Amino acid sequence: MKVGIIGAGRLGTALARHFTRAGHQVKLSSSRGPDALTGLVGELGGNASAGTAQEAADFGDVVVLAVQWDQKESAVASVSSWQDRTVLVPINPLRETEGRLEHADTGGRPPTEVVASLIPGAQVVKGFNTYPAQVLAEDPAVDGGRRIVLLAGDDAGAKRKVADLTDSAGFQAVDTGTLAEGGPLFDSGGPLGGPRKDILAL
Ligand SMILES: NC(=O)c1ccc[n+]([C@@H]2O[C@H](COP(=O)([O-])OP(=O)(O)OC[C@H]3O[C@@H](n4cnc5c(N)ncnc54)[C@H](OP(=O)(O)O)[C@@H]3O)[C@@H](O)[C@H]2O)c1
Repeated sequence: MKVGIIGAGRLGTALARHFTRAGHQVKLSSSRGPDALTGLVGELGGNASAGTAQEAADFGDVVVLAVQWDQKESAVASVSSWQDRTVLVPINPLRETEGRLEHADTGGRPPTEVVASLIPGAQVVKGFNTYPAQVLAEDPAVDGGRRIVLLAGDDAGAKRKVADLTDSAGFQAVDTGTLAEGGPLFDSGGPLGGPRKDILAL
């Protein structure tokens, strides 16, 4: 598969590492432009490249929006159209203030629906938001099982694509239903929300 990743920070890099190892091609982008990612791309090897956010969005099958809550508006504005794109959203409504994590105000709306409203026409799949990045970066094979990745989304085809990508990287994707049904289960603060490292499929 070809995966564009907008946001090459802690989470985006962890996913890029898994996906390139699994044989997928990844194009990463950050706010500092492609040249700033030369070292990371070299480290990830031949399946990785860098580009602009638009180039990452245009790259292929799935686009990952791996930016912080407060960066989502500027990041999505870098792409001319989100129509018909499959977009994996790991964004939690958190912001770091003086080294502490605080919940951002979502206006009472589920956070992934707030993100989805910024990218009209996209098929949004929520996922990969429950493990701290350093845990996500580890081998998902643990104690004879595989770490579970909870997914939610309204489009079955988009969810299948993200589930296949997830499984190919050694995780076990679990479909929790639509954004409205399944999404709140694994929002940060939800019953299955993170930070969590120990849900295994055995
Ligand atoms: N870190 C975790 O443990 C964790 C766990 C679960 C979920 N998440 C979620 O994952 C998301 C990313 O978190 P993170 O910890 O990876 O954040 P991060 O380390 O701060 O990385 C954010 C990345 O987004 C890039 N970016 C910002 N604005 C951009 C734009 N306009 N266009 C392209 N790239 C842009 C930044 O670019 P620069 O590098 O140039 O600054 C940076 O590479 C957050 O929404 C968070 O809630 C994180």
